[in-house]
Amino acid sequence: MKHYDVIIIGAGAAGLMCAATAGYRGKNVLVLDNAKQAGRKILISGGGRCNFTNQKVEPHQFICANPHFVKSALARYRSSDFIELVERHGIEYHEREHGQLFCNDSAKDIVTMLLTECEWSGAKLQLRTDISDISKTGDGTFELTTAKGDYSCDALVIATGGLSMPKLGATPFGYQIAKQFGLNVLPTTAGLVPFTWHSEQKSRFESLSGIAVPTTITAADGTQFSEALLFTHRGLSGPAVLQVSNYWQPGQAISINLLPNENALDKLLSTLETHPKQSVRNTLSQWLPKRLVEALFDATQLDKALNQLGHGERELLANNINQWSLVMNGTEGYRTAEVTLGGVDTNELSSKDLQAKKVPGLYFAGEVMDVSGWLGGFNFQWAWASGVAVGMSV
Ligand code: FDA
Repeated sequence: MKHYDVIIIGAGAAGLMCAATAGYRGKNVLVLDNAKQAGRKILISGGGRCNFTNQKVEPHQFICANPHFVKSALARYRSSDFIELVERHGIEYHEREHGQLFCNDSAKDIVTMLLTECEWSGAKLQLRTDISDISKTGDGTFELTTAKGDYSCDALVIATGGLSMPKLGATPFGYQIAKQFGLNVLPTTAGLVPFTWHSEQKSRFESLSGIAVPTTITAADGTQFSEALLFTHRGLSGPAVLQVSNYWQPGQAISINLLPNENALDKLLSTLETHPKQSVRNTLSQWLPKRLVEALFDATQLDKALNQLGHGERELLANNINQWSLVMNGTEGYRTAEVTLGGVDTNELSSKDLQAKKVPGLYFAGEVMDVSGWLGGFNFQWAWASGVAVGMSV
């Protein structure tokens, strides 16, 4: 049985970062993954350009049952540290709105950088390796049975990610290991995910597929995002929708402001003064895409002139624009979700080194634990920061 100081399961964002960090500290490190390629989620992220971090990362941009948990790791490895690493490897990048940083060329650059770091640090990577059994011996060593032989290690790191995108090899393995060692795992659900229509909504709105509008969307708990909304055949997507899905529970309404920063009632009243005979249709079509206006309101309302609307009707119209309340059917689930909400309960882990409090030597890094970030590079920043926190401690 070959012995290592550290074995990391999962050659994704967190696992590779952890491996290089531990390797540079002189640790004898092996990374195991059952996939045939390392960092597959990195490769498809950010439309192939990987939104690898964000200029401004703050703890409130992460969802975790314990909101303080992320603070220590995020403070010790900042987005500026990762940017410095990217620059050292000569990777060109650019900033998009809300401080999001993307590779100029390809997400492959980030995977190549991480693999190079692993190689330079001496960490070994072994892909296509199914792990069938993990146990802890009386002397505190972990033993792993794999399809490619048996290994033992002093520190075992679980960096197997969440359940999103099963076709990319996502598995519940990390949760199973946590449970095997007696750790609590919080219920998981799809996050950063598009919503789907109820059947009656679908027949009314599916023709809007492809329309994008700037919005402010508010979840039932008051959390708000101002970004684009995209109508799809199946429902609603776009950054504002993905963001708000992290704060949504089945059955809850979301409130969509289709004219963010403007008061629709004031706009109606001032147009009434200048163009009293203008139709509601023509008025609203100057503010919103015409197809959206036709789908939102009845033809009888739209055919009226502004001066034929009663006060109540005007208020209702304005309300539907500034506070369009929708109860969506559900989400597209893990198939298209970018992240998994829930996971290994952070109460089981030390926030400093992410080691299981009741299982010395067992560590968790990345999305496998109950930490999910907003859209915008925050999930990778958590993978980098948690990977480094563990790599510095094992
Ligand atoms: P990650 O999923 O990266 O790695 C887990 C590894 O464990 C994989 O290599 C997997 O093969 C391996 N594994 C799983 N089960 C195993 C088993 N049983 N045995 C052995 N190995 C196993 N975030 C962001 O910040 N910016 C972005 O642009 C995007 N874009 C994006 C697009 C899409 C389509 C998705 C699905 C996700 C994103 N994300 C993102 C989220 C981001 O990809 C995600 O949060 C990180 O990859 C999480 O890193 P981890 O290392 O924790 O898991």
